[in-house]
Amino acid sequence: MLQISFSSETQPGGGSVAILVPEGKPFGAAFTALDALAGGALGRAATAEDFTGKDGTSCVILAPTAAFERIVLVGLGRADDVDACAAEKAGGLVASLLGRVEQASVLTGELSAALVAHVGLGAVLGAYHFSLYHGAPEALKNHRLTALTLLTPHAAEAEGLWPSLRAVARGVVLTRDLVSEPANILNPVEFAERATNLRGLGLEVEVLDRPAMEKLGFGALLGVAQGSANEPRLVVMRWNGGKEGEAPVAFIGKGVTFDSGGISIKPAAGMEDMKWDMAGAGVVTGLMAALAGRKAQVNAVGVVGLVENMVSGTAQRPGDVVRSASGKTIEVLNTDAEGRLVLADVLWYARERFAPRLMVDLATLTGAIIIGLGHEYAGLFSNDDALASGLADAGAFTGEKLWRMPLSKDYDALLKSDIADMKNISGGRAAGSITAAQFLQRFVDKTPWAHLDIAGMAWADKARNGQPKGATGFGVRLLDRFVRTAFEQG
Ligand code: BES
Ligand code: MN
Ligand code: ZN
Repeated sequence: MLQISFSSETQPGGGSVAILVPEGKPFGAAFTALDALAGGALGRAATAEDFTGKDGTSCVILAPTAAFERIVLVGLGRADDVDACAAEKAGGLVASLLGRVEQASVLTGELSAALVAHVGLGAVLGAYHFSLYHGAPEALKNHRLTALTLLTPHAAEAEGLWPSLRAVARGVVLTRDLVSEPANILNPVEFAERATNLRGLGLEVEVLDRPAMEKLGFGALLGVAQGSANEPRLVVMRWNGGKEGEAPVAFIGKGVTFDSGGISIKPAAGMEDMKWDMAGAGVVTGLMAALAGRKAQVNAVGVVGLVENMVSGTAQRPGDVVRSASGKTIEVLNTDAEGRLVLADVLWYARERFAPRLMVDLATLTGAIIIGLGHEYAGLFSNDDALASGLADAGAFTGEKLWRMPLSKDYDALLKSDIADMKNISGGRAAGSITAAQFLQRFVDKTPWAHLDIAGMAWADKARNGQPKGATGFGVRLLDRFVRTAFEQG
């Protein structure tokens, strides 16, 4: 992970430098001083590039003097509008533009200590690259950056704020690593192993295997798992940083390490994407690591259901009827609607065992949410208005945006089965994400609950907003912020 440090030095003597530039002239004292050192090269480059400091824009100047290798100007947008989100975006751009050098400094100008720390968070995440399986150094030439020094008059204060954001960064990186791993490596057993490693952070981690889940009557989850040669797992991660005996907040994740669709098999094109069908579980795991890493003052429990949905002679068939842990029976009309089957048992278990004050589940649950919301917002479904608005606010703060979708008993008729308590698909294509959420709600009862359908947000096909393509870790920053504002002071 990229190393971030803070310094109250005002001026780098050489090397590679990024200058964060607020929109509109003048560009600020740091720019002017460096421009003088560079014989006016920065000003000329900015003019030639029509660079005005607009957010998301940049201007790269190579070797303007013998002392400087690379100077990049990164637009912050209008000074009054710079928030945590804009600071992170600028930090991400800095990291991607300076990826070829090993170390660099960043002139952060007038930004407050808090915003400087968020520049650091954005930079760490912008520098992220999953490089476990690259052999050739050539493939990594844009990912050399290892250390970034942020120059700010508020260095001491920013340094004080950093450890808690660094814990969040580590959580996002863990999530991205899990989501990036191919399914031949990251099967349910391996995922559970990696979660177990988090004990070092002070998390209590419990792993349940197939016999344990059979005893609990997890017929819905085990029906999905039965076609795979890889054994399923349920992982419970607990962080007890709050008052003793206080009911925890529960986070539940869909962890389908590969979703072939099962007997209702998916088309070949794009099926490789289904290695990231465990992103919900990946986010819950990264979030729990973040909460533990920053010693959050909250009792939290993360529960993830880990299975592989495969095609084989032991796979469940369309038309099979399974009995969930809640006792409710489900007619499985489409084996590709497996996420809701996994979550049915995990949601029920989390509620029964922990009586949480609220539950939030995350799942790459439906293709339909991508049709509805694309890659800008995750779908938010909730039976509780206060919870929904708390989550939406955290989404706006972090830039991990949520859009509320309806739940209503009027959709329930679509899940009526002729031979069981419900069926797992509605039949038609109408309201696909809503009927999925409606299905989940049946296992939640009255507990305040929210479901985040992150199918459109877990993976990015292109680099965007200073973040690399691939696994996004969407949800870790959002839920960390939600926990801070809902349960902690500041
Ligand atoms: N994992 C998929 C949903 C998905 C699709 C996630 C694309 C990310 C990208 C889920 O298990 C699924 O297959 N859902 C079906 C439900 C249908 C059979 C009712 C879908 O969305 O097509
Ligand atoms: Mn599926
Ligand atoms: Zn799936």
